[in-house]
Amino acid sequence: MAERQQVLSPSRRGFLTGGLMGAAALAGTGLARASEGEEVITEIQDWNRYPGDGVDARPYGQPSQFEAHVVRKNVPWLTSDSISSINFTPLHELDGIITPNGLCFERHHAGIAEIEPGSHRLMINGLVDRQLVFTMADLKRFPRENRIFFLECAANSGMEWRGAQLNGCQFTHGMIHCVAYTGVRLKYLLEEAGVKTAGKWLLAEGADASAMTRSIPMEKALDDCMVAFAMNGEALRPEQGYPIRLVVPGWEGNMWIKWLRRLEVGDEPWEQREETSKYTDLLANGKARRHTWVMDVKSVITNPSPQAPITHGKGAMVLSGLAWSGNGAISRVDVSIDGGRNWHAARIDGPSLPMALHRFYYEFDWDGSELFLQSRAIDDRGFIQPTKEQLRSVRGPNSIYHNNGIQTWHVDGEGVVENVEIS
Ligand code: MTE
Ligand code: CO
Repeated sequence: MAERQQVLSPSRRGFLTGGLMGAAALAGTGLARASEGEEVITEIQDWNRYPGDGVDARPYGQPSQFEAHVVRKNVPWLTSDSISSINFTPLHELDGIITPNGLCFERHHAGIAEIEPGSHRLMINGLVDRQLVFTMADLKRFPRENRIFFLECAANSGMEWRGAQLNGCQFTHGMIHCVAYTGVRLKYLLEEAGVKTAGKWLLAEGADASAMTRSIPMEKALDDCMVAFAMNGEALRPEQGYPIRLVVPGWEGNMWIKWLRRLEVGDEPWEQREETSKYTDLLANGKARRHTWVMDVKSVITNPSPQAPITHGKGAMVLSGLAWSGNGAISRVDVSIDGGRNWHAARIDGPSLPMALHRFYYEFDWDGSELFLQSRAIDDRGFIQPTKEQLRSVRGPNSIYHNNGIQTWHVDGEGVVENVEIS
């Protein structure tokens, strides 16, 4: 052993030693089982005996047939049709921070626009020196960037404002996804058109039948917004705005206009439906807050959760979840297993990027007693995720949007999990 290590680089040697120590530390956790009686390993299975499909059987790969339950789901009673509707990301089935393209939740106001990219144009008009039109090929000649961001609908967790309602983090928190975008900084396109001094606002318009429109302040547009044409390395999916969508990092999903067709520069906000009657926050005194764009610091435990109960009984267990903030990166996540009486620092693993999902884990020994699980995120601007009670005391009972309150899951002695609220 000593001899073989001579030929390894110092870092490789370190890795080996670490690995051995790790193995020693893990010995005796009781997490594996004796091989007797485990016929699936001691007897040859069909897949071990016969060759499988050849290379061209699956020109575009799909998940294993045994993962067929991992799908987006909607809540039929929420909307009267599926054209102006929403479905939810199956957060309890995912790990890491990236959402696979086929599982990103969908929110459409007039269904999916199926756009032939050769017939798609992006127009910039209004208070500009030159009114411009870009083809897809034109857009791809600007310098590109790759950025990982979460997109959260302002209505995520909205149904939970007054109390625990939907049984599963897919439904309570699944209006979120996080992908790697490839695209062009909006700034470069606006510079090409030449924004006039009076141009302080931007109206972004979609090419779908809802012609979705939102006003965006010029400061944000010139800061970090992108016009994206790819997600996770491949062309955007039609559901996510193929061939292009606006990326508005950290801000509410409604502003991320899909099937983007036009950007108009103006001197004041347009006061469209989506920024007056919708996506404003009704307060207890009957007044509504508007322009509440940032998605505040938030987190949720994805496992265990109502759709992912504890099935292995007492002993070693891995609790996992997601945290994010529209203000920056997550600096800390605390987890409580007793409804917020005691807090333990969770372990954030994987990249910690501003305005992206963060993955956290908390490993502990479950003694089989009932649990009240909570997570509380803190971002690098110092914002702390509030309780739902704190939110309601500030905004009253009638708000819907921007619910970033702490979620509680109750676990009973059998490992069954339910959505509850502690009062
Ligand atoms: N853009 C257009 N053109 N049409 C739409 O219906 N829905 C908005 C936004 N952009 C919408 C749109 C809303 S409310 C949200 S939350 C996000 O897109 C959802 O993006 P996703 O479908 O990729 O999850
Ligand atoms: Co939305």
